[in-house]
Amino acid sequence: MEEKLRAIAQEAKQLLDRATNMDQLNEIRVKFLGKKGELTKVLRGMGALSADERPRIGQLANSVQADLEDYLNHSMSEVKNKELEAQLAGEKIDVTLPGTPFSLGKNHPLTRVQQEIEDIFLGLGFSIMEGPEIETDFYNFEALNIPKDHPARDMQDTFFTGPEELLRTHTSPIQIRTMEKTAPQVPLKIIAPGRVYRRDDDATHSPMFHQVEGLAVDTRITFADLKGVLQIFAEEMFGIKTRTRFRPSYFPFTEPSAEMDISCVMCGGKGCRVCSRTGWLEILGCGMVNPRVLEVSGYDAEKFTGFAFGMGVERIAMLKYGIDDMRLLFDNDLRFLAQI
Ligand code: PHE
Repeated sequence: MEEKLRAIAQEAKQLLDRATNMDQLNEIRVKFLGKKGELTKVLRGMGALSADERPRIGQLANSVQADLEDYLNHSMSEVKNKELEAQLAGEKIDVTLPGTPFSLGKNHPLTRVQQEIEDIFLGLGFSIMEGPEIETDFYNFEALNIPKDHPARDMQDTFFTGPEELLRTHTSPIQIRTMEKTAPQVPLKIIAPGRVYRRDDDATHSPMFHQVEGLAVDTRITFADLKGVLQIFAEEMFGIKTRTRFRPSYFPFTEPSAEMDISCVMCGGKGCRVCSRTGWLEILGCGMVNPRVLEVSGYDAEKFTGFAFGMGVERIAMLKYGIDDMRLLFDNDLRFLAQI
């Protein structure tokens, strides 16, 4: 019996040494250590042994079993290591392959242009104000010297949400709202960006668009200050070579009023398709604050003067990026947005 046990141990070890994968190892385990395995068979035969042989053989059988289990575990971990090594060798990573591209989002062109406008005026000492998009007739029209029967209302037809309540047609009401709060303090220098609404819809007009309003009030503000500030704005926005010109215009809330043109961003002023061969592009309306507007808002028009301007953010974005249809700015088509 002793010999049998040693033979089993030897055979099992030889087989284990030759095994190359887990399946083979498992087979060997079942064959020798399983419930019906060789070793178990021997142990079952122990009953036939004499009383003095039994403890010795029992001990030997136990140690053979423990020894084989150790050996098996060792073989298993070796095989596992080899399998892992083979797998790693087969799965070599080529670190020179290009990675999976992913694109970072960025701000919408309108947001970017608005922030650029804000930065320029912040640099000139202006601060930023906001106002409500649903505005009263008083702030949107009346206080801006546009009474109920004034023909200027026709140019700014909009959506009324009540008899005296409408979606604001421009950011100018923020002039009044701000002056009411600050009067009679000077200097006052603010810009007011935001959405505005009009009954418009074509390639260069949208029923919702963005404006940035500007207002400065102090004791000796002149038209020269207006021109100086807007010239700096034009140069920073469109390049140092940009020239400006002011054409007489009309707004009920400024007097005198003007439209400001910049030299064409495409041709530099020679005349091209973008500027309709004129060399100039209209970019904003402006003027000296009408004394009646100052008075309505609590500023003594004998003591104070001011200038104001209003520009369309879409128009500036279109000129800056050469966009010919305003609706592209609102379609949210990434094929367009990714180009800018
Ligand atoms: N509010 C005017 C518009 O929407 C622009 C403007 C603002 C003109 C301030 C003069 C002064 O057309």
